[in-house]
Amino acid sequence: MRIAVLKERASGEARVAATPETVKKFIALGNEFAIESGAGTTASISDEAYAEAGASIGSAADTLKQADIILGVQAPDVALLGDAKPGAMVAALFDPFGKADVVDAYAKAGLEALSMEFMPRITRAQSMDVLSSQSNLAGYKAVISAAETYGRAFPMMMTAAGTVQPARIFVMGVGVAGLQAIATARRMGAQVSATDVRSATKEQIQSLGAKPIFVEEVEGIEGEGSGGYATEMSDEYKAAQAKLVSEHIAKQDIVITTALIPGRAAPQLISDEQIASMKQGSVIFDLAVSQGGNVAGSVPDQIVEKHGVKIMGYSNTPAHLAADASALFSRNHFNFLSAFWDKDAGKPVLDEEIGDAVRLTQGGAIVNERLKGAN
Ligand code: NAI
Repeated sequence: MRIAVLKERASGEARVAATPETVKKFIALGNEFAIESGAGTTASISDEAYAEAGASIGSAADTLKQADIILGVQAPDVALLGDAKPGAMVAALFDPFGKADVVDAYAKAGLEALSMEFMPRITRAQSMDVLSSQSNLAGYKAVISAAETYGRAFPMMMTAAGTVQPARIFVMGVGVAGLQAIATARRMGAQVSATDVRSATKEQIQSLGAKPIFVEEVEGIEGEGSGGYATEMSDEYKAAQAKLVSEHIAKQDIVITTALIPGRAAPQLISDEQIASMKQGSVIFDLAVSQGGNVAGSVPDQIVEKHGVKIMGYSNTPAHLAADASALFSRNHFNFLSAFWDKDAGKPVLDEEIGDAVRLTQGGAIVNERLKGAN
């Protein structure tokens, strides 16, 4: 098989879909590897490092010529893929609910689109899950960036000139990103609290040494749907949560929001009124800003100041840690394809459970059940 990786073309995308480590591993499986010149520059990987690992380096057209498998962070524009083999596999992030036109174009081109964000949340797919690997880094970066913007220190400091109070940090949404945000803020010495709609997270919050803030009295608030994801909550629950959060938020210095519901716009968790209740100089980092945002008035890649509170969030947080994010993303790709490598066929043969979950298009049609339901 000829495996190809292009330089990412989306604005602000600094990651790359292969590293010298994964190039070597793919070659050891019996493949040829081609990579576009400069593809790794923004992730601190030189062409020479790829070449040493055994990849051939060239233009986009050279790289794609006769490619059987194309790996991307974000799905490349179909117009670029004309020279790939007919029916080539393309594994990348497709944003399938947000970019129906891209999925359509892949179907029309007869390509096999494999959406890495549709990886099922089952134990054996954990090492293939880019949402987890990237969210983990994003949770860390959110805290670091908020700390940079915050005009005070995180830990308590007892000095001869008096005591510096520890920062109070509230994490809303305790999935992979939220857990890492809690752990990072704790390591930096802050006083941390957290909330989620899934009651299963309460113990996880406590085990990281943070305080859980939960609505207790409302009935039927499990909040967990299939695959460990959150479900849309009842109006009663939302009202009770808003009240509890309002009281808590007014006392916080930094709030990190991470709440997402797959296939929908992110739920709004912080209103303008709640922002106004916070202290001057507080910071809110909205990790969901590119999916509609959890915070009223948040704008991707800008620090918006409202009522003396700084509201920030990146359109692509993992790209701010491009070297680590690329290393993990590439391993996810390798773990995925190598798990299904058929030695006799010399190519990956996906099974039903994972193959049907991630495959969006094949043989000229959209074949994914989740997309058929959505359209
Ligand atoms: P996510 O990125 O979809 O959402 C982030 C968090 O926001 C979730 O914890 C969600 O419950 C929470 N949330 C949604 N609406 C909310 C609201 N209105 N208020 C407060 N919080 C709200 O979640 P992520 O990080 O993808 O993880 C979800 C779950 O899936 C976790 O339990 C995680 O451990 C599990 N998981 C399992 C994997 C596997 O077994 N392969 C891989 C990755 C995650």
